[in-house]
This record gives sequence, C-alpha cells and structure tokens, in this order.
Amino acid sequence: MPHVDAGEPAEGSLQGEATLKRVLTARHLVMLGIGAVIGAGIFVLTGTAAAQFAGPALVLSFVMAGLACGLAGLCYAEFAAMLPVSGSAYSYSYATLGEVVAWFVGWNLVLEYLFAASTVAVGWSGYFNELLSMLGALTGWHFALPPALASAPFTFNDAGHLVATGTLINLPAIVIVSAISWLVYRGISQSATVNAIIVGIKVIVILLFLAVTFHYIHPAFWHPFVPPNEGGAKFGWSGVVRGATLVFFAYIGFDAVSTAAGEAKNPQRDMPIGILGSLFVCTLLYIAMAATMTGIAPFRMLNTPEPVATALNYVLGTVAAGSTASHVLGTLKVFVVFAALAGLSSVVLVMLMGQPRIFYAMSLDGLLPKALGRVHPKHRTPYVGTVIVGIVAATLAGLFPVDVLGDLVSMGTLLAFATVCIGVLVLRRTRPELPRAFRVPIPWLICPLGAAACLFLFWQAFETRWWLILGWTAIGFLIYGFYGYRNSKLRLNAH
Ligand code: ALA
Repeated sequence: MPHVDAGEPAEGSLQGEATLKRVLTARHLVMLGIGAVIGAGIFVLTGTAAAQFAGPALVLSFVMAGLACGLAGLCYAEFAAMLPVSGSAYSYSYATLGEVVAWFVGWNLVLEYLFAASTVAVGWSGYFNELLSMLGALTGWHFALPPALASAPFTFNDAGHLVATGTLINLPAIVIVSAISWLVYRGISQSATVNAIIVGIKVIVILLFLAVTFHYIHPAFWHPFVPPNEGGAKFGWSGVVRGATLVFFAYIGFDAVSTAAGEAKNPQRDMPIGILGSLFVCTLLYIAMAATMTGIAPFRMLNTPEPVATALNYVLGTVAAGSTASHVLGTLKVFVVFAALAGLSSVVLVMLMGQPRIFYAMSLDGLLPKALGRVHPKHRTPYVGTVIVGIVAATLAGLFPVDVLGDLVSMGTLLAFATVCIGVLVLRRTRPELPRAFRVPIPWLICPLGAAACLFLFWQAFETRWWLILGWTAIGFLIYGFYGYRNSKLRLNAH
C-alpha cells in the first residue's frame, strides 16, 4: 500500500534529485487554512444566500455547513497526520479505497482547486474594478478599466448556451492568477509568508468591521429569524438548508492545508492544528459576520455581488452626512474593499499551491504524466504543474463565465470530503495497527455522520446541477481509461 508510511522523505521527485522542502510550522499551516477559506464565500456569496434563501437564519446555514465541515475536518486531520504527503484526499483514497476511487476523487479535487481559483479570481476582478472606481471618485481621475477589458467574453444565456458578450477579456483576473502562480513557483516559504501577511490584513479588517458595526445592529432585523417560506427553497427551513449548500463554498479550503503536508516540519503534530485550527477560527468569524450583516441591514437588500459593502452603505445612509460616524463608516468601506481583495488573493494563492501538489502525487502514482512530478532543483516546488495550472486557471478566469460554476466546485469538494470520511473508517478496520498521531473520536459515529452530512449537502446541489457533475465525471474516466489505467504504477508493478 503506497504512501502509508509516514516520515521523511515521504515523497521524492521522479528523478530523485530534488524533493519538496519541509519548512512549514503550525502557524504557517493555520494561516494557509484561513487564507484558503475566507474569500468569495463571505465577500460575495453571503448576500445571495441571505436575500434569496435563508434570511437572518443565514447564521444557521453557516452553523450547518460548519458542522459538516467540522466532521470532515476531523477525518482530514487523522489522515494528514498519518500520511504527510501532498495528495490530500486523492492520496488518502489511494491508500484506502484503491486507484479507481482515488482517480475519481483526484479528478473532483480539480474542481475544488483549479476551478475555485479561477472562480475566485473572477470575484477578485470585480472588487478590483470597484477599487479603481472608488479611487477615481476620490481623485477625479478615471481609473476604472473599460468593460471590454474587465469581464469575460463568453457567458451562458438563459437557455444555457455559451454566447459572446462583446467584451474582450477579463484582464485583472488573468493578472492576479499569473502573479500568484509566479509566487507559488518561486517557493513554499515565500508563498507562506505572503499568505500570512494577506491573512493578517483580512482578519484585522473583519474584526474591525465587527467592532465598528456592533453599535448599529437592530435586533428587529433578525425577526422573524426564519422568514416564512415563499415557495421552493425561498426562506423557511428549506431555505436554511439551501443556504447551507451555498455557503458551504465559504468553508472550502481548510482541507487545502493537507496538500502542504509534504512540506510541513512536523506534520504529525501540526497538520491537525492547521486543519482544525483554521476551521475553528473561520467558523467563528463567519457566524459573527452573518449575524452582523443581517443585523445592520434588512436582509433583502443584501442581494449584491459585494454584500459587505452594501450592508455598510445602508448604515451610512442612516447616519448624518459629515458626522464622525459617517467618516468612520466611509473609511471602513474602503478597508472592506482592500480586505476583500486581500481575502480573494489568498484563496487563489492557496488553491494554486494545492493543485500542482495533488497532480504531483497523482503523477508519482503514474496516473498523470511524469512531468507533473518534477520538482524544481532550486525552488523545490512542483514547477511544471504550477506553470500548467497557472496557464489553465488564467485562461478559464480570463475568458469564461466560471463564476457560474460555484455549485460544481462545491459538489466536487463534497464528494471528496465524503470519501475521506469513509476512508478513515476503512483504514481503521484494514490497518488498525498503523500509528495515528491524531485519532477521530468515536469514529463509528463521526465518520458516517460526516459522510452523510456532506452527501446531504451534495444532493441539494445535485438535484439541479446533476448534468454538470456527471459530465465532469465522464470526462475524468475517459482520461483515466486512455492514460491513467495504462500507466498506473500499481498495475505496472503488479505485472
Ligand atoms: N472558501 C473559499 C472562498 O470563500 C473558496 O472563497
């Protein structure tokens, strides 16, 4: 069973001359987790979730999605401490459920990492333009990019067909993906340091937002807490559940910590700290943000692409113009735009860091071409994969309406989470003797519950978007049939 023995060197490049560098500490790992988690979910999606599905009970949607992630997080922690390799759920499935399931999971992780990076880069581009417009308004100069250069040239029309929009390219999205890919190429230490700075900025601004707006909360806005159902998943308890599926996107990323396991100094101890620590911090911040946003503005107003700024605008409208309060709130709004840009950048960073590492693990097993398993002799990063992932992510973000693929990203991730939960239980039975630095408590309860919670959320999205995930899976298995199956190390070694 490959990849099961922990310890250095857990992985080596195909040439054997360069390996990934073990430099990350527990603090780096927690920061990477927070970096990957807090992004578009809170700065872009919360508004829709509140205004169209959950109302003030958005808080409950966050609690529900947080519980599902907490259960999956415990399972990730057990695996990541035991198998400190870079393939995350792919490697865990490989070691427990076999190559075919592993390929399926690895293929779904492409949705979680590569597609999420592109999706979030598109959100980044929107906020960047917002910043340019704000600067323009302040200085009287015209900074904003023309729409032809700031949005995708293709979109889906109501009938679901891809049509041209008349614009040329989403340039800011391409620039951010390229810049971050370069950073990730240069080294894990540099990436982790930049990430830590960005995370610092976004967390401070979120705390500032919570502190300043606390005084403007009107508990009346929270009544009724669960608004009466208006048909389908519009409000009521079904709305809370649909909201949970939507805000699940906001939690995606704590598991990306596990792709850095091959570069952690002391993975046995620090992986659980990184995964569970970042998840805990983000859950608290999310619940506080959801309660505050629905407490300072009527939830129906929040249906915008920048709901945090929208909520602040509402409060600004209630204070006297020119007053100190108005200045403080106006400044806070500028900070929020910076924090959103920072937040979205770190998500792109950690996702672009994670994807090549998963490809690296898949390549070492023969399921992907050898080049993806190469490690740069100087930078000690999986550089070929980093370049390829950067080019694909930039192209997707620059040309296609990937922002509509949020549900697909969540579905792929939920399947990976469910498989990891099941994998823990399987490995407990098949290899009970393996040393486990972290153990899921009451596994016979937590693991099935985690898998069930993830599959339940998956089902909510699958009901409407089943064709997307089935199409993706079919493409994946075609590639496996033509390449992975024929080149699989497992199969070649067996003969
Ligand atoms: N959780 C990440 C975000 O919200 C993917 O942007």
